[in-house]
Amino acid sequence: MDKNRRYLRNPSREELGAHTSDQQKGITPPPFEKPAAPGARLIPLVPADRMELGRMPLVDAIRDRESRREFVDEALSLEELSFLLWATQGIRRVSPKGTWAMRNVPSGGCRHPFETYLRVRRVATLAPGLYRYLPVEHALVAVDAPGAAPEVSLAEVCYGQEFVDTAAVSFVWTAIPYRTEWRYGPDSLKDILLSCGHVCQNLYLACESIGAGTCAIVAYDQDELDRFLGVDGEDEISLYVAPVGKAARP
Ligand SMILES: Cc1cc2nc3c(=O)[nH]c(=O)nc-3n(C[C@H](O)[C@H](O)[C@H](O)COP(=O)(O)O)c2cc1C
Repeated sequence: MDKNRRYLRNPSREELGAHTSDQQKGITPPPFEKPAAPGARLIPLVPADRMELGRMPLVDAIRDRESRREFVDEALSLEELSFLLWATQGIRRVSPKGTWAMRNVPSGGCRHPFETYLRVRRVATLAPGLYRYLPVEHALVAVDAPGAAPEVSLAEVCYGQEFVDTAAVSFVWTAIPYRTEWRYGPDSLKDILLSCGHVCQNLYLACESIGAGTCAIVAYDQDELDRFLGVDGEDEISLYVAPVGKAARP
């Protein structure tokens, strides 16, 4: 078996049987949101029940969706950004004990191992820079992780895909693998990757419904993207990039 194809396969029953997950051991689950630094200033977003966006019929959004790489020089409003974040990682309900949360996308075992980073260039009321979404608070926090390099060209990190630097805002999702491994151990890899696809698809459809567009990107330099965000590439790993802007339509 080619070692790369191996990653597409589920572990065998024997491999799974030999593993005792941290959940089975009774270990406390990890937090489902990476906390903001103590005292960090949170930037509130528009709450879901006050958003008026996204009323396009689903059939139109699905039919018109395509990967968009041409953006007009227009800012997104804070409400539009709030809508896109809610559609992709917004939380509906936190469990009574506060150990897990239901979101607007599915995720294996409800583990939701993702964090959303935003490289903001043109969003009304937000200074350009790097931010992270806090779904529990439905707020943003500026990222000033040691080593983060938001001034670097994200297009260069994405192997020179120049349209990336013309986006109003780029979403970058990371995975914190232990959130899923806590429950599924060696059976986590496919779960994490498949779950991330659901997140990006909601972004595609939500973008269509507000006259914006996006393009999923996996062609990037792993070390450079981890450095760009200030994550260690092991306990938190960059996974997927999605530049967003008001789309040039014929
Ligand atoms: C997992 C994945 C990775 C992708 N990576 C890139 C990329 O690095 N650069 C790019 O321009 N498009 C990328 N795309 C977009 C595809 O090229 C695009 O979905 C495909 O050509 C079909 O076009 P459509 O999305 O308009 O239907 C990616 C799409 C997916 C789902």
